[in-house]
Amino acid sequence: MIALACDHGGIDLKDAAIEVLNELGLEYKDFGTDSHESCDYPVYGARAAKAVASGECEKGIILCGTGVGIGIAANKVKGIRCVICTDTFSARMSRLHNNANMIALGSRVLGSELAKELLRVWLTTDFSYDERHIRRVDMIMDIEAGKEIE
Ligand code: RB5
Repeated sequence: MIALACDHGGIDLKDAAIEVLNELGLEYKDFGTDSHESCDYPVYGARAAKAVASGECEKGIILCGTGVGIGIAANKVKGIRCVICTDTFSARMSRLHNNANMIALGSRVLGSELAKELLRVWLTTDFSYDERHIRRVDMIMDIEAGKEIE
């Protein structure tokens, strides 16, 4: 199950995201918003992020005007590693090396075809499970837990 959420600034990419999810046969849960009416992106970023952090959803896709605000909000939820992404290399590496569990895209930055390609790459790339990348992701989570990492 993939969490999907956006604010009014990101809603124009929502259909593109749903198209890719359908194409890949992935079920999703839509956490809103559903209109172009102005709303607060942290609300929607947090809803999707909490669903991922709790295990209700395996990954999350969040959309705002730039991807930045909603991505920063999601990264404040414990357990979330959200990549704010505009290129396919970062989309791929964020899964391979960082085990990113959410992706944030900006509908005022990206065309729908590039957004769909980013999502295809991100959703179909697995974490490498390489020892050094496991260690580094664990260190990120240790920072979040307030532990010393050096
Ligand atoms: C809303 O106007 C806009 O600020 C929001 O969608 C997002 O781009 C914030 O980072």
